[in-house]
Amino acid sequence: TIPAKAILKEVGPRDGLQNEQALVSTEKKVAWIEKLTDAGLNYIEVSSFVSPKWIPALADADDVFRYLKRKDGVTYAALVPNAKGLERALRADVDEIGVFVSASDTHNRRNVNKSTEETLTVLNDVAREAKSAGKTVRGYVSTVFGCPYEGRVSIGQVEKTAHALLDMGIDELSLGDTIGVANPLQVKQVIRQLKTTIPTGRLALHFHNTRGLACANIMAGLEQNIQVFDGANGGLGGCPYAKGATGNVATEDVQYMMESIGVDTGVSLKGLVKAAEYIEPHVGTKLPSYQLQLQQEE
Ligand code: HMG
Ligand code: MG
Repeated sequence: TIPAKAILKEVGPRDGLQNEQALVSTEKKVAWIEKLTDAGLNYIEVSSFVSPKWIPALADADDVFRYLKRKDGVTYAALVPNAKGLERALRADVDEIGVFVSASDTHNRRNVNKSTEETLTVLNDVAREAKSAGKTVRGYVSTVFGCPYEGRVSIGQVEKTAHALLDMGIDELSLGDTIGVANPLQVKQVIRQLKTTIPTGRLALHFHNTRGLACANIMAGLEQNIQVFDGANGGLGGCPYAKGATGNVATEDVQYMMESIGVDTGVSLKGLVKAAEYIEPHVGTKLPSYQLQLQQEE
């Protein structure tokens, strides 16, 4: 059996834009986010409070939050790598703080210039402060299904990293297939193992569609009773510190699959396609979303 409902978390404005060459203006980001919530999405990862030298495309995170007209019932989240990022995020009154660490040490060093152990120490303080400011915290484990530098990542390593985050009081863990190498059997094996010590209600899945298996992997997640899935409108994105990583699975392609198999998402396919149509010319590349392309052929 699979769950009757699932939650789609939109990471396009963050994970999508962070890897695009084009600099999208603050105004257009804000307009796009409005279209995403009009489609019924109630969770938007808006931006990252990271170093603007590392991720120039998201240097305007503070302004995006300033100009955003927030809707009731929508969670506007952002990534934070360190104390400075948290300070900026709290000033912007972000609803939920996202922290991130890789299961593999080499990717973590390329991504944040620290070992995983050092990062966990930093994040421990970030999580504690975020919690005492009344925020919920989402923790990403990256390279769960494979690392661009180290190759295979053991389930034990993933489990250890996941528990290090949970021990900090993190509310939800998103398991990242950073470079899109996961397969459905592996997803089943990883979730089955994690389920022995972590309630499925605290787990989310985050797939990049580099090899076209994201929807198959999501199906494997549903079969393990996972109910929260990340996606990026249009299939935008990648990871600048993971060579060859392409976009997140397109939110509208996930929505289409879910509705086809009777899983309620509460999100409108039409609305998502509209939002993707809006952002595509501003990023200046053809977006890989199937639902967007079908619409354009009509
Ligand atoms: P560093 O160079 O080691 O840091 O970078 P530093 O502490 O030495 O600071 C260097 C400069 O950055 C200083 O400025 C700091 O003030 C500034 P300077 O004195 O040179 O003028 N700085 C900041 N400015 C604004 N906001 C901040 C901040 N922190 C420092 N928060 C650092 C370390 C972590 C900052 C850097 O490596 C960084 O920003 N990395 C972010 C990388 C990133 O965003 N990667 C993508 C997100 S993770 C991902 O995509 C995976 C995920 O999608 C899941 C999946 O797919 O698996 C989540
Ligand atoms: Mg990602």
